[in-house]
Amino acid sequence: MMNKKGRVFSGARPTGRQHLGNYLGAVKNYVALQDEFECVYCIVDLHALTTLETTENLRSNTYEMALDWLAAGLRPEETILFIQSHAPQVCELHTILSMITPLGKLTDLPTFKEKVRQNPNNVNYGLVGYPVLMAADILLYRASVVPVGVDQSPHLEFARELVRTFNYHFKTQALVEPATRFTEVPKVLGIDGQQKMGKSLNNHIELAATPEETQKRVLSMVTDPQRQRRTDAGNPDVCNVFSLHKIFSSADEVAMINAECRKAGIGCVDCKKRLAHDLNESLVPFRARRAEIDQNPDRVWEILHDGGRRARAIADETMRDVRAAIGLP
Ligand code: TRP
Repeated sequence: MMNKKGRVFSGARPTGRQHLGNYLGAVKNYVALQDEFECVYCIVDLHALTTLETTENLRSNTYEMALDWLAAGLRPEETILFIQSHAPQVCELHTILSMITPLGKLTDLPTFKEKVRQNPNNVNYGLVGYPVLMAADILLYRASVVPVGVDQSPHLEFARELVRTFNYHFKTQALVEPATRFTEVPKVLGIDGQQKMGKSLNNHIELAATPEETQKRVLSMVTDPQRQRRTDAGNPDVCNVFSLHKIFSSADEVAMINAECRKAGIGCVDCKKRLAHDLNESLVPFRARRAEIDQNPDRVWEILHDGGRRARAIADETMRDVRAAIGLP
């Protein structure tokens, strides 16, 4: 851990079982970053409260997500994996940061406007403060690098500005300005071939699905909409099935499909069967590890609690410096 390049922090809401979009868009990268950085990964249960109507699945969603992350290759001995609410210092830092946050900055954010548009009847105070809580997450653990998707870029910029304001105002170096690291994400659309893969749209393919379920989902995928009949030539460039082949199939197979699809040499059903097969093959080790870890749920909770203890230790140090810098008696 000593010779790693710095600390990475990232968080995700507890959405339960992870799908291909989560894996390719975030989890795969979380795993890879462990080789270079000291990593802190957080399941942000408090953030989830800003939009959740019910909390009954919070516990199982947290467990399922942690299980998937561990099965995908997070190494809890070196990496801190924890639940946001287990380090309550984040709430204190949130309150402090809220005092130097102009309200207009929050209500101007595109992410906030989008949430209001989606849910005009639930514009709560916590929702407005979402980016302040997110900044508190990042700053509490003094992350040097934060890997996120481009949609989170305004939140990261906001956090960086807060650091500059805080450090300037209180003449301190207590907070560290984090660098944003955009995750390079292959575009993963849902099985509808239209929208981004997501659980709420039910257009997703779960990593932990059975091979049969996976095949069923893959066979229902929308391909090149211009290709109506088996005898029509297809265009792999606009086909979501082909995009996934490029990730999960061998170079030879990808080249073959690319050529054959264009001259109607291979049909969509065949092409999808091949994808289901390759996807299931790639997921064999993940699914085996997942089943093994799932034998002992207490162990997963132990990992999360141990992560919580290590997270609180870092948080305490930061808060000591923050309180001193402000001059809280
Ligand atoms: N807002 C992030 C999202 O919706 C989740 C998140 C919360 C986060 N706190 C964070 C991401 C801190 C990175 C760092 O994806």
